[in-house]
Amino acid sequence: MYHIAVIKGDGTGPEVVNEALKVLNTVESKHKIAFQFYELDYNAQRYLSEGKTLGDDELEKLKNYDAVLFGAIGDPRVTSGILERDILLKIRFGLDQYINLRPVRLYPGVASPVLYKEGFQDLDYVVIRENTGGVYTGKGSVLDKGSKNETVSQIMHYTYEQVERCLRYSFEYVRRRHLDSPWKFLDQSDLKKGYIGKLTLCGKSNVLSYVFDLWLRLFEEIGKEYPDIKRDYVHVDACCIYMIDAPHMFDVLVTTNMFGDIITDLAAVTQGGLGVASGANINPDGVSMFEPIGGTAPDFTGRNEINPIASIGAAQLMLDHLGERQAALDIDSAKLRVIKGMDSQEAAKMGCSTQEVGDRVVAELLK
Ligand code: IPM
Ligand code: MN
Repeated sequence: MYHIAVIKGDGTGPEVVNEALKVLNTVESKHKIAFQFYELDYNAQRYLSEGKTLGDDELEKLKNYDAVLFGAIGDPRVTSGILERDILLKIRFGLDQYINLRPVRLYPGVASPVLYKEGFQDLDYVVIRENTGGVYTGKGSVLDKGSKNETVSQIMHYTYEQVERCLRYSFEYVRRRHLDSPWKFLDQSDLKKGYIGKLTLCGKSNVLSYVFDLWLRLFEEIGKEYPDIKRDYVHVDACCIYMIDAPHMFDVLVTTNMFGDIITDLAAVTQGGLGVASGANINPDGVSMFEPIGGTAPDFTGRNEINPIASIGAAQLMLDHLGERQAALDIDSAKLRVIKGMDSQEAAKMGCSTQEVGDRVVAELLK
């Protein structure tokens, strides 16, 4: 029995999470898995009526679940940043979910801005975003606020240990990804060298010298323990070009928190929009959280139009993480069959509603 905390959150969060729950309920009987879901109202509404975001005691209790399924957080009625920081980021940091895994895949039939080049259809890589450090730690200061001397700083802060654990996870992840066969874009000479996959570090060593000196040193050092993994480095600005112009050079990309935030939105567009992009916040030794990466989409709230595929994908990542690989693969193939022909963030453009997409995935699972 898996005990799953469900935080639907705000905006379109509840609509899409409901579809993921529907799908999970279906695999439950099909794959003989049992879930107990616990819905937790850590959201804007509770904040507006009770003034509460996420209490330390509530954070502590999250450690008792097997996983957290998350929707989206943020509300136009609340000053931007409060709910994000005190709920979403508080969970990521508080549960030490130091890996943010964001797979980038172009599903057959989904239109993408990168499709204009021959062969880009098999866009398939993974971004590993460091999730507990960098500028997200909130370190910094503001002096003389409001005056003409106002001086602000926000520090990109990393410790050896944070970088090391993130890189180790990444190298191990590349190995796991290619257990069965080497990465398809390795050439003959790579294969002769014994490579099975590639890890690319994305940084900005030409400007952020302290930070990326540490990242690059550890990348090289730890990388020596993984002679089967090819190493590459790209600056983040150039990385944005490659993601559009040469995405096949990526197998697994690892990067800092802020860069990872930015490039995964770009990545989501290349894979057809935020409506299909899912992410996992992982603490390999603790409780992990799974979410669609698209946000609350306030303009679409209540319209039953947002594509729940990203949320269903989050449920799939959760199953995979829990060791229910077969059920995860089953959702993946059902999802693939349903999104064939889909071309945008709005499920409406597929000619069906949020709920219908969920229903279709369920129907495919039951076939
Ligand atoms: C994301 C989001 C969050 C982030 C926000 C909501 C704080 O953009 O998950 O990518 O910056 O990490
Ligand atoms: Mn983001």
